[in-house]
Amino acid sequence: MSFDAVQLILQKRDRGELSTEAINWLIQNYTSGVVADEQMSAMTMAILLNGMNRREIKDLTMAMIASGERLDYSHLGSHTADKHSTGGVGDKITLPLAPLVAAFGVAVPQLSGRGLGHTGGTLDKLEAIPGWRASLSNQEMFEQLQKVGAVICAAGSGLAPADKKLYALRDVTGTVEAIPLIASSIMSKKIAEGTGALVLDVKVGSGAFMKTLDRARELAQVMVGIGQDAGVKISAILTDMSTPLGRKIGNGLEVEESVEVLAGGGPADVVELTVTLAREMLKLAGKGDVDVAAALKDGRAMDKWRQMISAQGGNPEAKMTRGKHSHTILADEDGTLETLDALAVGIASWRLGAGRARKEDAVQAGAGIELHAQQGDSVAKGQPLLTMYTDDEERFERSIEALAGGYKIAKGKSVERKLVLDKITE
Ligand code: URA
Repeated sequence: MSFDAVQLILQKRDRGELSTEAINWLIQNYTSGVVADEQMSAMTMAILLNGMNRREIKDLTMAMIASGERLDYSHLGSHTADKHSTGGVGDKITLPLAPLVAAFGVAVPQLSGRGLGHTGGTLDKLEAIPGWRASLSNQEMFEQLQKVGAVICAAGSGLAPADKKLYALRDVTGTVEAIPLIASSIMSKKIAEGTGALVLDVKVGSGAFMKTLDRARELAQVMVGIGQDAGVKISAILTDMSTPLGRKIGNGLEVEESVEVLAGGGPADVVELTVTLAREMLKLAGKGDVDVAAALKDGRAMDKWRQMISAQGGNPEAKMTRGKHSHTILADEDGTLETLDALAVGIASWRLGAGRARKEDAVQAGAGIELHAQQGDSVAKGQPLLTMYTDDEERFERSIEALAGGYKIAKGKSVERKLVLDKITE
């Protein structure tokens, strides 16, 4: 069946519904270059403004899956489970989580991306480890899953190519924050990746795409529905992203903190979220009755981490380097660190060189921020609040600007952070 791109744009612009055939045609022809970028830009803006119903979102996801290959792990003979986060600041959870889950005999095929904007990317973090290789062939990935049980690598170009094109387009046309587009983008990759179980970590707050609990719940429900229809065992955990996760933000810094967690230490919030997500993944994969936290304490997860990093050419013993220059900000009064805003810290870290402004930019392994206090902690006047690291001294000015108004010290008692906000299972 053939359609006219302009006609479909007009239909969505005027709040109409797109048929299954129309969506299939649009995605096929955008992937092959028949529908132009400017036409798809107009369409994504019309979708952002006017939305899509559940049937349209599902059709969009299925069309994006059909644009590429679909992986299959049935020959592995073990359950597979994966986690996907909608993106946050200091969110390094994938790093300790994948080996932790693999330590219980559930295979973790974690196909990941790079950071763009203020949220970091898992591959950029792991590339701070000398020698570590992000690109694996499908064959190498299957072999590592069989041997080690966990692999974190770049999603190959064959997986949901429509999403690759669309995501790049959305990033430069102000159309990232649309629920139908985020849901189809994430779910097309995860279903094509072929995991049997999937736990979604849907972030809520200033540092996340979803700023309110209601919007995050809606996104989670849409994604869980798509996953269930595709036969994936799936649930979504809604977690706070109003303040950074952990005390270290930036590529090498986040590897360092992940290794602390794998060694049985690390900040309480990072440990809590790692254990919560691991429990959920294992439960969905049929292994609900294991002591997850014990595997962090007794070194089983660390052993898996070492195997996983070595298998991709990385040196798991390498010490992470810090940026050549540092700048520390001190508390200017006594009190409680009432706010430490995730978005402000994320942008500051990005400007130090931890993230990229354009796809082709390189990131600095040692750039980022170490927090000496987290939101809710008591602080004393003159105490270091945070230290910034970068290889380019001139980056401090714009980074300090990003932090202005991003933290507040107030009189009063320290407040406990509620990290896990809700869970969606249907
Ligand atoms: N992560 C994705 O993969 N896609 C989105 O649209 C947003 C977050």
